[in-house]
Amino acid sequence: MKVNSNFDNLVPNYLFAEIAKRVNEYQSANPDKDIIRLGIGDVTLPLAPVVTDAMKKGADDLAHKETFKGYPDYEGYLFVRQAVSDYYKSFGVSVGADEILISDGAKSDCGNICDIFDKDNTVLVTDPVYPVYVDSNIMAGRKIIYADCNKNNGFKAMPDENVKADIIYLCSPNNPTGAAYTADELKAWVDYANENNAVILYDCAYEAFITGDLPRSIFAVEGSRTCAIEFCSLSKTAGFTGTRCGYTVIPKELERDGHNIYKLWYRRQATKFNGVSWPVQCAAAAVFSKEGLEQIRENLEYYKENARIISAALDELGIFYTGGKNSPYIWLECPDGMKSWDFFDLLLTKANVVGTPGAGFGKNGEGFFRLTSFGDRDKTIEAVERIKNLLR
Ligand code: MLT
Repeated sequence: MKVNSNFDNLVPNYLFAEIAKRVNEYQSANPDKDIIRLGIGDVTLPLAPVVTDAMKKGADDLAHKETFKGYPDYEGYLFVRQAVSDYYKSFGVSVGADEILISDGAKSDCGNICDIFDKDNTVLVTDPVYPVYVDSNIMAGRKIIYADCNKNNGFKAMPDENVKADIIYLCSPNNPTGAAYTADELKAWVDYANENNAVILYDCAYEAFITGDLPRSIFAVEGSRTCAIEFCSLSKTAGFTGTRCGYTVIPKELERDGHNIYKLWYRRQATKFNGVSWPVQCAAAAVFSKEGLEQIRENLEYYKENARIISAALDELGIFYTGGKNSPYIWLECPDGMKSWDFFDLLLTKANVVGTPGAGFGKNGEGFFRLTSFGDRDKTIEAVERIKNLLR
């Protein structure tokens, strides 16, 4: 037998697994060091009370014959999809409950969606890029092309009519740079996709961090229903990184190559995915209740304040950065022209602070570094003090 030789084309480790490995090695060699982790975007605040109450009630349901649940509906329970649909409505976007599919998160769907597309499609990603889009398509043996994001374009690549792409991954607010597209900028991508018969895979896992009138969904943009699929997650919105629940939106009119895309994805999910558990779907619906939205807003404000604390320190140090406003990520330029992994080592060994080296997100990430605002408040303040002492 043979294994999938495309795996030979991957970097040895998933970026965040590589970071964890290096940090654990350092910690083992230096057990007395108090390491502060602002690398992976993992939340630190507990789930909202209304969410855990719903989860407990869901677990209780499983303990009684009358309320017990087995396999969930493949696309997720209607009451959860309706809650998501109503949430979209609250910011002026209309997507039907029958266009929403509940999943275990945006990461898996962003990778698994490749199953429904031909291997010979060309995939366009913006660079720097969330490694999941690249690694998943390398595994599938697809050709990947890169649209450069840098200081000159505000880390927002725009479509190039001379470039032919079939599948386009966009992430806004962006992981890792924090840059967020305006409606006009997204409209340019939507027009490109419709003209080129391409599909946009739009990851808006960080939409809850948007302030002002930037679009929180690609479906706020005219023409998107015939070219886009949207992925979102409760991981960052409501602290579900460990609980696992997300949703994917596919407009019913989205067709390519004579096929209805919703139907293909439904077929794929029904075959390979048995849905999200009842207690977790109950918890997810509770996120979108009036009380739930109020409670998660408090947590989001906490993280936004962390972002302000990190940004203020970088302002003080005169370090260039983007993000931190419509995004939980702060994307900074490494001081003194340092390379990303060298800066990672410096911060880890001299300040005992962990961040994510920009080079791990692609060639345009070299010389940059990502800090997350999802940390504990006191630890974030402590990390910022250590960074200031080191770089001042
Ligand atoms: C991130 O920090 O970019 C993500 O939370 C990591 C991941 O999805 O593995």
